[in-house]
Amino acid sequence: MEVATISTEETQKLAEQIASRLCPGDIVLLEGELGAGKTTFVRFLVQFLGFSNRVQSPTFVLARQYINNEPSAFIKVINHLDLYRLSSAQELEDLGLTEIFCQPDAITIIEWPSIAKDLLPANVIEIKIEVLGETERKFYVQNLR
Ligand SMILES: Nc1ncnc2c1ncn2[C@@H]1O[C@H](COP(=O)(O)OP(=O)(O)OP(=O)(O)O)[C@@H](O)[C@H]1O
Ligand SMILES: [Mg+2]
Repeated sequence: MEVATISTEETQKLAEQIASRLCPGDIVLLEGELGAGKTTFVRFLVQFLGFSNRVQSPTFVLARQYINNEPSAFIKVINHLDLYRLSSAQELEDLGLTEIFCQPDAITIIEWPSIAKDLLPANVIEIKIEVLGETERKFYVQNLR
């Protein structure tokens, strides 16, 4: 699927559509240059998945976890990773972050995922964001059910 957005509001609508198609266990990779809108997209996704957590970039902490304690929540845990600062897959393993990739009850969203590619399952959902202009973006979505 390819979707162009001309504003953050339109990106928000796309996030709503994608959120409705996610299930526990899903891993979502977010690729795109600095400032493409990866964290912005995650913020909307987390909101539409029913979480009230404040979403901040995990660039410096590498990983954040959002929890929804509502008993009726379909998705109760979201892991939000940003691997920009990592230089090797080994580092990822040393930090114990690879365990996150096999949590069946959580959704995991990864910004700058390339270093982890060999450690990820095959059926991950891939979203590439291309910057077309100041507020124009193109989203390329693969493997969404
Ligand atoms: N159509 C759009 N969709 C998403 N974000 C947009 C759009 N137009 C403008 N923006 C702006 O682009 C910026 C994207 O910043 P954001 O932190 O989300 O990028 P990022 O891809 O996570 O960068 P980094 O690689 O540093 O983590 C935000 O300020 C956002 O408001
Ligand atoms: Mg970011």
